[in-house]
Amino acid sequence: MSDTKQQLEKIIADSVLELATADEEGLRNIEVRLLGRKGEVNRVLSAMNGLDAARRAELGAAVNAAKQELEQAIAHRRAALGAELSAELAENDWIDTTEPGTASAAGHKHPTNAAIEKMSALFERIGFRRARYNEAEFDHYAFESLNMPKDHPARDDWETFFLDAPENKKWGKQVMTPHTSNAQGHEMERRRPPIRMVSFGKTYRRQSDVTHLTMFHQFEGLVIDRGINLTHLRGTLDHFAKGYFGADRKTRLRPHHFKFTEPSFEVDISCGLCNGTGWLANDTGQMANGTPCRVCKSGWLELGGAGMVHPNVLRSGGIDPRLFSGFAFGWGVERTMMMAAGMRIPDIRLIYNNDLHFLNQF
Ligand code: DAH
Repeated sequence: MSDTKQQLEKIIADSVLELATADEEGLRNIEVRLLGRKGEVNRVLSAMNGLDAARRAELGAAVNAAKQELEQAIAHRRAALGAELSAELAENDWIDTTEPGTASAAGHKHPTNAAIEKMSALFERIGFRRARYNEAEFDHYAFESLNMPKDHPARDDWETFFLDAPENKKWGKQVMTPHTSNAQGHEMERRRPPIRMVSFGKTYRRQSDVTHLTMFHQFEGLVIDRGINLTHLRGTLDHFAKGYFGADRKTRLRPHHFKFTEPSFEVDISCGLCNGTGWLANDTGQMANGTPCRVCKSGWLELGGAGMVHPNVLRSGGIDPRLFSGFAFGWGVERTMMMAAGMRIPDIRLIYNNDLHFLNQF
């Protein structure tokens, strides 16, 4: 065998082991080293200068065969590397397309809206119809039809915002509803007894501190029918208080004065922290040596106003007080919500600061 052929065979034999273990970069190096323009194989070829034509043809064929063999071996190894990589990816880098995705945060109802829904459902269960009346209101519905004539000092209790809007000849100036009692006049004009309505709405007063907001929500209840009396009012308030706060809570009516009801009351609910006693037990559970309740101080919490609808209010709504009687009540939504067990909201204004750290707790 000629030297040249031996050289070629040696090149091939030497590369076998290296090829078998080369990675992608190693393969590129081998390619350049053996098959490149100035590579080992071509160097063998240049040594043939000066040979006669027949020999050159023979050796040329041998060189080509060697080139082909090396190219095939490299391609073979490259294919094997590719297969290894796919196998590794298949093992370690896969996704399960049947796995449920990550749901994006959907948010939740604002605590005030959630409270309104819960309150509303309690009244709807005993036959109240949910109504909604104006937020920008005429003096007539906010005050006058509620038995509060112009310039009456009782109006001072509602620190009212007046709107810079045209006055109406019949209904007077426009205001932002200072209480939801404006619903009464509208309801009586629109419906005939029996009336059983609850209306939730926004209310506005010039006030802002730990327990007061410029804008807050109230709900107004109105029941008018033949023979309606105080016991119906009590039963309704009890149903609400037990449904919203818990079966162990009691209500109490405390005489008060509103121009639009006679008699009038403030509605109290027994305090949930001290169970209506006004005292918190000491460490050993004894009431006698306990401390005054830090929430209520007296055993009762004030919820809102109520009373039997004043005959003048019925008359103003076109209802004959000799045939019909009724009761009404009006409470703050936020205040009621804050009294629910476990709420512990120290400042009513937090509810509308739009701070998600606060809101996400509910
Ligand atoms: N409107 C009163 C307020 O804002 C609450 C109220 C008291 C409503 C007595 C009533 C009622 O319907 O009968 O303070």
